Amino acid sequence: MDAEVSENIIIVTAKAPVNIAVVKYWGKRNEELILPLHDSISTTLSTQQMYAETTVMIRQSFQEDRMWLNGKIEDINNVRIQNCLQGVRKLAREKLSDKDQDLSFLDWHIHICSRNNFPTAAGLASSAAGYACLVFTLGKAFGLDAVNLTHIARQGSGSACRSMNGGFVQWRAGKKEDGSDSLAEQVAPEDHWPEMHVLVLVVNASKKETGSTSGMDLSVKTSEFLKHRTNSIVPKRIESMRKAIKEKDFHSFAELTMKDSNQFHSVCQDTYPPIRYMNEISWAIVDLVHQYNTFYDRNKVAYTFDAGPNACLYVLEQDVAEIVSLICLRFPPASNNPAQFCVGLPINPAEEISRDLMSALKFSHSSGALQYIVHTKVGSGPEVTNSHLLDGKGLPKVYQTEC
Ligand code: PMV
Repeated sequence: MDAEVSENIIIVTAKAPVNIAVVKYWGKRNEELILPLHDSISTTLSTQQMYAETTVMIRQSFQEDRMWLNGKIEDINNVRIQNCLQGVRKLAREKLSDKDQDLSFLDWHIHICSRNNFPTAAGLASSAAGYACLVFTLGKAFGLDAVNLTHIARQGSGSACRSMNGGFVQWRAGKKEDGSDSLAEQVAPEDHWPEMHVLVLVVNASKKETGSTSGMDLSVKTSEFLKHRTNSIVPKRIESMRKAIKEKDFHSFAELTMKDSNQFHSVCQDTYPPIRYMNEISWAIVDLVHQYNTFYDRNKVAYTFDAGPNACLYVLEQDVAEIVSLICLRFPPASNNPAQFCVGLPINPAEEISRDLMSALKFSHSSGALQYIVHTKVGSGPEVTNSHLLDGKGLPKVYQTEC
């Protein structure tokens, strides 16, 4: 058991990762249970760079349930938070009832403090990491070790179920009405393809205009193309992506990833009224990637975009330095402080970019277009830590407005 348990208090803190889909989830077959129209596949990013962190304290003397998110009071009666909280409590009651254990702690009030170390709701999968962290931490607090909780995380934010595992993860849509077979499973563990690195290009860290929930609901109602994608494209694409991952075939992985990102944004455009998440800078990144891959006559880098303008690039470790040099040339930082522009894993000194490559790329400079780049890699699933965000009284240790 990972929770610290003393008389009348249970406390546990955990970190959970962001995941970035390479076959996107977009559209629900059941809105209440958050059941998707089709399967999706993602990679889990290392918590060394980007993570959500949550402390849960359950205490007999607490008068009410309370929650803080990124230093601000959060409405704990929010439906999705309640779905997670009640889901874990109910499961704990079922799983623990046959054990000879006092279950009165299941009725004690709870304090929850959560934060992300990256911008919330900017198309950077913050809700996925946040809900995965909440459910994982609650599971530990209520003694549900080694129980699959992905069906509960899914009811916080659909894509959160994929952040409950490390490595390469598939969320199976399932067929059952009650959603009991709509679970996330690992396709390959985090050490399967250690050369797989990720660059997150933060184009605009402000809040997105159309949230994924309302966006995908509108697509389900209005996009004929989404029906075609669901029935005729995704099933084959999932199989091809699983194969590319298992065989560590980067060229195919990259092609499938880029095509799927493009198709997701085409569905957004086919939605009525249309939804637009990518902006001019996003498209400039797409162009740069294709020019680069064309020069080498194979895919050395792949882009993907979620519900926002920020890009996520997949690139093998040996190519990171050259790609980052190119990005810095094409999108020079506004400030001349490179240490703040590229954060995360260290990048080897920039390589000299060959004349041939430079002349093959149609180059202009968009200074200040990118806020920063996070260099990270595929990582493991949620894990318990020991630095609690709540103090002995169950109040946030630090009020942070921004993390
Ligand atoms: O889980 P949600 O509701 O935040 O939806 C996520 C949707 C995308 O990020 C665009 C795609 C995906 O599969 O993560």
